[in-house]
Order: sequence, then structure tokens, then C-alpha cells
Amino acid sequence: MRLFIAIDLSKPMKDALINAQNEMYDGGMRGNYTSEENLHLTLAFIGEVPAAEPAMEALSAVTFTPFELALEGLGSFGDLWWAGMRPSPPLAALARRVRHALAEGGVLFDRKRFSPHVTLLRKARGDMPGIGIEGAGMTVEAFSLLRSDRGRNGMIYTELGRFEAN
Ligand code: 2AM
Repeated sequence: MRLFIAIDLSKPMKDALINAQNEMYDGGMRGNYTSEENLHLTLAFIGEVPAAEPAMEALSAVTFTPFELALEGLGSFGDLWWAGMRPSPPLAALARRVRHALAEGGVLFDRKRFSPHVTLLRKARGDMPGIGIEGAGMTVEAFSLLRSDRGRNGMIYTELGRFEAN
């Protein structure tokens, strides 16, 4: 199974992201838009593992207090477009704690530097129109361990565990 760890986003934040996607589409951008239920902020990517238990156990040791998160800006990695987050020390600290806990538990993960983003569009074609994104926010009170499966109409993410702030 393919696993990753992410923050599920609030409805107001998803609404702002969907508005941005609609403006991108209306501006002529084509490609694979992330569906509303799949919008998330990844903290760490584990990838293929035989079982979820080691990750579940490692993540249950992570402690954090609720913190605020806000959208800020749009950007791209090649043909992938994303929405960014306002720089947030508690977010960076949570990603660090999650990754530290995985490492302590012997769970391998992608060591690429944490670069907080929400993927809006993959395999983008067309020129990005000059749009902005509303600075919607949310309070982060939990993060999740997710399984990713390839469905007939895109990826299907299933929550295997939810880890609440203390
Ligand atoms: P992306 O949106 O920038 O592709 C599930 O695949 C989630 O894990 C996505 O949010 C994806 O980021 C992220 N991710 C991070 N590293 C990854 C990797 N090496 N392979 C696939 N997905 C990765």
C-alpha cells in the first residue's frame, strides 16, 4: 500500500482553492484538476510499504497544539500548479515532528525538503491567467495517515488514522 501523511483542509479553505481552480479553468488552463475531496496538504510521503501499523504507531507519539494556517500565493513545479501557505513556524514544526517520529519508528519516507503546498492541477496545459487566491484560513487540529489507491477516475485517498492535537 502507498501511504502519506497530510492535513485535511477546512471547507472555507477548500472553497477558496476551488474558486482558484475555476478561475484557472476559465482562463484556459487544462489538465488534471484535483477534486475537492482530494485537496490536502502533505506533511510527509512514505510510499509503498507492506503494512500501515509501523507508521500508525510512530505517528501516535507526535504531539502538537492547534495552530492557524492560511493560503498564500500560487506557484508551480514544472507542469504541476499549487497553492502555497503563509509561512508558519508551527506547520514546519509539525512536519519536522512527523518526520522525526517516522525516522524513530524505522519508517522510511521521502526526505525531500518540506515545501508546503496544495496541488491544484497536474499535467497543466495552457498559460496561467493572472489570478490571485483568497487568503482563507483554518485551525489545524489534526493530521491524518492516508492510503493512496489509483481509482478509475483518479486517486482515491482513504484515511487510516487521525492524530489529534493535544
Ligand atoms: P504532490 O501533490 O506535490 O504530487 C500523495 O501522492 C501526496 O504525496 C501528494 O500530495 C504528493 O505531492 C505527495 N508527495 C510527496 N512526495 C511524493 C513522492 N515522492 N511521490 C509521490 N507523491 C509525493
